[in-house]
Formats: sequence, structure tokens, C-alpha cells
Amino acid sequence: MTKKIALITGANKGIGFETARLLGEAGMTVLVGARSAALGERAAAALAGDGIDARFVHIDVTDHGTVDAAAAWIEKEHGRLDILVNNAAIAAADASGPGAYTLPSDTSAASVRAAFETNVIGVVAVTAAMLPLLRRSPAGRIVNVSSELGSLERLSDPSSPAHRVNLLPYNASKSALNAVTLAYAKELADGPIKVNAATPGHCATDLNGHTGPRPAAVGAAVIAGAATLGADGPTGVFITDAGPEPW
Ligand SMILES: NC(=O)c1ccc[n+]([C@@H]2O[C@H](COP(=O)([O-])OP(=O)(O)OC[C@H]3O[C@@H](n4cnc5c(N)ncnc54)[C@H](OP(=O)(O)O)[C@@H]3O)[C@@H](O)[C@H]2O)c1
Repeated sequence: MTKKIALITGANKGIGFETARLLGEAGMTVLVGARSAALGERAAAALAGDGIDARFVHIDVTDHGTVDAAAAWIEKEHGRLDILVNNAAIAAADASGPGAYTLPSDTSAASVRAAFETNVIGVVAVTAAMLPLLRRSPAGRIVNVSSELGSLERLSDPSSPAHRVNLLPYNASKSALNAVTLAYAKELADGPIKVNAATPGHCATDLNGHTGPRPAAVGAAVIAGAATLGADGPTGVFITDAGPEPW
């Protein structure tokens, strides 16, 4: 059987790196997307050192030239793509420091724009560039890494832990990402490509100053599971570690 080819954006660290590791350990060729060549090369080398078939691919999701160049390189090297994990994201808080928290009324339009540029427009740019390659796969999978903080059901439920995290740029961008996910899923529903959003849960990563209680590898298992759904798996759903849940 031919090896599956998986591209993970923002895979130089955190949940993306651990997702690349899990997919690599499952026998796939993993394309380690990173905006920094130095960090991406280092991450791919670390995975390769553990026996994983990993290659660095330069992708800054906000620089669409790098996105198109990455798609051209993947086509030349591999001819197709089986799995796309849109993982790269920023928190875009106005206050300084990772995990910084800014009230909506103190939030600048610029920080909202930055969050959308990476977390939403970046996903659209990468998906558009990679779709022709995914269409060549017998079982293409797209996973958009979302968050409980993008879930309108949770954000509006006072009993949800997400309710008190009132982070306008990030939350709104992940809600938009959920809508983006559904848009692609509906268009592609009649073919083999499944498009889902998945949340890793609250993990300890640089994104939140390592405040999350879960190791990144545990969150990555949810993402890798969504990336390896069988033909009978769902499309157009929001996947948590408890399975598909309401948006
Ligand atoms: N941690 C959590 O509790 C949690 C919970 C729910 C959802 N998530 C989601 O999980 C995903 C991974 O986050 P994480 O927690 O692993 O955060 P992280 O450790 O901060 O990793 C984020 C990754 O995205 C990359 N990135 C940011 N902007 C980029 C751009 N313009 N182009 C390419 N790559 C870019 C970063 O690259 P650099 O190293 O160059 O900055 C880094 O590799 C995100 O989608 C996040 O929203 C996380």
C-alpha cells in the first residue's frame, strides 16, 4: 500500500508537532509545515531522528506565496496529498505575553484582523491551494483545528468552562473557522474528502503560556483521530475527545 502523505501547518511545536509525530508513527510521510525554516527543519529532523518519514515544508499561512509554492512542491515531490491538518493559529491578544487576556472593550481591530488573517483566511488559503492535491487522494481528509472557544453553544452556556474565557479575537476567529469547515464539508460531501473541525482540548502549549492541564500529545491524539477517519466516518462535524459534539 502506498504511504499516505499528511501536511500539518504550524507543526514545528505544540499540538501540530505532536500530531505530526502521531501520523508519522502511523506510517505516513509527514510534511512539517512551519513559517520559520530553522524551526521547521529542526522539528522535521527531531521526528526523523525517531524514525519518522518527516520533511519540512515552508508555509506561512499569511503569506500566500509560500502557500502556493508549498502546493507546487508537494505536487512535484508526491503528486497528491491525503491529509491536511490546518493547525497553525495565533491567540492575538493585545496584552503582552502568551495567554494574555484582554477585555473585548480593550481589544483593537488590528488584533482581531491578525487573528482572522492567520486562523481563518490562512486556512482558506491553504485549503484552496491543497484541494487539487487532496482530490487526487482516494480518501482525502481535512482537519481544521478549532477550539471549545469557537463553539457558540459553549460560549453562551454559563455552565461551560469556555463561557468565562471572553477572548474576542481568538474566539470569533475559531467560530468563523467552524463556519468555514461546514462550507467546505457541504460542498465536498458527495466525494471521498471529509472535512471536520476538531478540538484538542485545553493543552499546555506556548499559545496559552502552558496553562492547559493536558499534554499536547493528548490533544494531538484527537486531531490525528479526525485525520484518520475511515470511509464510514462523519464529515462536517465538530470532533472532541468524546467524539462529535454540538457546534
Ligand atoms: N493549546 C490549547 O489549549 C488549544 C486548545 C484548543 C485549540 N488549540 C488549537 O491548537 C492549534 C495548535 O496550537 P498550540 O496550542 O499547539 O499552539 P502553539 O504551540 O503556539 O503552536 C502554534 C503553531 O502555529 C504556528 N503559526 C502561527 N502563525 C503561523 C503562520 N502565520 N504560519 C504558519 N504557522 C504559524 C506557530 O509557529 P511559530 O512557532 O513560528 O510561532 C506554531 O507552530 C491551534 O489551532 C490552536 O488554536 C489549542
